Amino acid sequence: MNQHPTADSASETDGVPREVWGSRLGFLLAAVGSAVGLGNMWRFSYATAEHGGAAFVLFYIFLTFLVGVPVMIAEFGLGRSTRLSPIGALRRAGGSAWVPLGYLFVAAGFLILSYYAVIAGWVTRYAFDAVMSPFPSDAGAYFGEVTTGWSPILYHLLFMTLTILIVAGGVKKGIERVSTVMMPVLALILIGLAVWATTLTGAGEGYSFYLTPSFEELFSLETVAAATSQAFFSLSLGMGAMLTFASYLKRDTDLPKESTIVALSDFGVAFIAGMVVFPVVFALGLQDAVGESTVGALFISLPGAFQAMGPTGRAVGLLFFGALFIGAITSGIALLEVVVSSVIDEWKIDRRKASIAMGIVIALLGILPASDLNILSAMDAVASEIFLPLGGLFLALLVGWGPPSKRLEIFIEGASPAIRPLMSGWLWTLRIAVPPLLVIVLTQTVPAGLASIRAIGG
Ligand code: TRP
Repeated sequence: MNQHPTADSASETDGVPREVWGSRLGFLLAAVGSAVGLGNMWRFSYATAEHGGAAFVLFYIFLTFLVGVPVMIAEFGLGRSTRLSPIGALRRAGGSAWVPLGYLFVAAGFLILSYYAVIAGWVTRYAFDAVMSPFPSDAGAYFGEVTTGWSPILYHLLFMTLTILIVAGGVKKGIERVSTVMMPVLALILIGLAVWATTLTGAGEGYSFYLTPSFEELFSLETVAAATSQAFFSLSLGMGAMLTFASYLKRDTDLPKESTIVALSDFGVAFIAGMVVFPVVFALGLQDAVGESTVGALFISLPGAFQAMGPTGRAVGLLFFGALFIGAITSGIALLEVVVSSVIDEWKIDRRKASIAMGIVIALLGILPASDLNILSAMDAVASEIFLPLGGLFLALLVGWGPPSKRLEIFIEGASPAIRPLMSGWLWTLRIAVPPLLVIVLTQTVPAGLASIRAIGG
């Protein structure tokens, strides 16, 4: 990799032409699209509710910028400097001993997308149904109907079909185009809903739960683990997704700047989603349900609230689930892209065939979580709470402690001088703080993941 830094013609790796993003903004919106998804609007809300509200939110911001940003710079840097998808990138940066990590990334892509598409399928049905009729009055029964029998399987397959079509369309014409159109729409919808939520009577309690930290609750290791894995999941880190997107970059991009923007946007969307969810849920007295279960509660409390609000609630619900759908599809395509780009690079298969073949395998795998919520929870616990922190740990070790010349190339190339002092700080967090933190996280999540696998039977 000795191309001139700004040679945009450096779009060939080993003689195979590599796609590039159409513009810097396109790349940025695609990366934001990958980050922003169900994680921000659904997982963030229940994690916050479960771990005490505002104090958790503060801690989460801290982790996003102190831990998330350096890991993201490392992933972006690896992708951009090797211009390869995860398996090849790790082989080039670390040697063949690092190839298994690439396979772990691809496995994470398979697993996460297969259940992510199931939840996205529920979202799709909620949005469709809201167009056709008001939300049903028995929200619990409605959730049961959406998540059992054929419905979850059909909507999951529908979602996967859309995802495959976009990824098959290519980096620029598929992923970039969809993200560029959809992300601004999502932002507008959410901001509109947050403004509307301020008009609700009884919203105050929701805001104060969400925004007034009480530090009486000391953080347990469990909370630390929950906030860290939430940050990894939400920022799409630890499985080579950001690496893959950066492999389509020209070399003169300012990665620390882009990473900061992605992290800010991702946090911004989660935060604004909370400004919708908490006032709505508290205004209707449904707060107890939200933190109760990882999967169901938000899908029950919110539609219940929307139903109770009559026609306004129906419109708001449609917009909310529409925004959730946009977040889900732009993340779904990034998840599939990790798998597809690896197949393209490793086996030299063309993009259309690779997208269809891998998409079908993932769609079939997804039938399991679509039919059994315990399987879905177990897959989430294993993939997002074990695979992602494990991936992040090894990435931090490789980039933080690998050969110094590589480290500089990864971290500094293309960055503006103003940002350099900050970057050495981030490099040090990557080396010193990230690995032990992730080891602590894993001591919590590995037993929890194993327990959730055992819970499948019972
Ligand atoms: N960040 C996504 C969300 O918040 C979920 C996700 C995790 C993801 N890892 C990913 C998306 C990799 C794309 C690629 O919903």
